[in-house]
Amino acid sequence: MTAPDGRPLLLLVGGGGGLVGRSVLMEFQADWSIRSVHRHPVPEEQHGGVEWIAADAASLENWDPLLKDVDLVLTLAWYRPGHDRRFAPLTRGLLRLLDAASRCGSPRFAHLSVPDAPADLEQGLPYLALRRRFDRALERSGISHVIVRPTMLFGPGDRLLTVMLRQMRRYRFFPLFGTGEYHVSPLSVRDLARILRTEVGRPGSRNILAGGPRRWRYRDLTDRMFAALGQRPRYWHLSPRNSVRLASTIERLGSSLIYRYEVEWLLADMLGLPPYTGLDLPLADVEPFIGAEGARMRARPAALA
Ligand SMILES: NC(=O)c1ccc[n+]([C@@H]2O[C@H](COP(=O)([O-])OP(=O)(O)OC[C@H]3O[C@@H](n4cnc5c(N)ncnc54)[C@H](OP(=O)(O)O)[C@@H]3O)[C@@H](O)[C@H]2O)c1
Repeated sequence: MTAPDGRPLLLLVGGGGGLVGRSVLMEFQADWSIRSVHRHPVPEEQHGGVEWIAADAASLENWDPLLKDVDLVLTLAWYRPGHDRRFAPLTRGLLRLLDAASRCGSPRFAHLSVPDAPADLEQGLPYLALRRRFDRALERSGISHVIVRPTMLFGPGDRLLTVMLRQMRRYRFFPLFGTGEYHVSPLSVRDLARILRTEVGRPGSRNILAGGPRRWRYRDLTDRMFAALGQRPRYWHLSPRNSVRLASTIERLGSSLIYRYEVEWLLADMLGLPPYTGLDLPLADVEPFIGAEGARMRARPAALA
């Protein structure tokens, strides 16, 4: 049941080049062999125990050969924006994987999902509705599994805090959605990889929420981000309704800066999850990360931040 060198084999679906995937590689590479399924080549996978399989999880019909000798399947693949016609094929592909894993008697399955969202999004937004379809299918599959649902992640190259800092540096102000009284509890992507590792090592099936060490009032976090850039906080105050309108407009223009559902989720105050408590090490606080990114951006001209 192991790789030729005797190490356990991990099937990583949705790639080593993504934000979470890069940390997962770092966490598992030392003592697991990794078979990584995604579409585009990435430098992180060109060396050291990673077998990259160039494939689209949405269209892969036969997962059986990829499951050979695998001890653990870990699914990360999902898209951030998109309509039904984008999410439905990926959902079907992941369900085919689940079915194959069930038939092959895969020992363990880990899946990355997301925290609860407002009911209308849960039911009406393909990003969530189809995701829940897969979450439920895994829970009913009979395979020993863990579903980890982290809140907002931070780490080198993330597309939330780093992008927010860049906008603050460039434009000197930032839109404040509503009052800013809602909460977030950012979790380091490195800690998420450790959490995945811890959870797959514990027996039994679970569905867990994972927040970072501190529950921030959103407005305090953005104030701190301005401070890290050496700037006075300057906000463009928007009502909740106008916040959603702005995000819809940005989305319609084809930008990936922010999506309407992300603003609605934030405003619903559902992202301030309690900290995950199962690691031996303390969870990383977001402040040193913000400080380091802020200092890095201050050292460059604002237009290049
Ligand atoms: N970032 C966050 O704050 C956050 C918070 C909570 C949960 N999550 C969840 O964590 C997971 C990973 O997020 P991330 O931020 O690491 O995303 P990411 O940086 O966009 O990476 C996604 C990875 O999935 C692969 N992928 C996408 N579609 C695929 C397909 N059809 N077939 C095969 N591979 C595919 C991509 O590789 P290729 O392009 O090479 O195929 C990429 O490596 C997602 O499920 C996300 O919803 C993220």
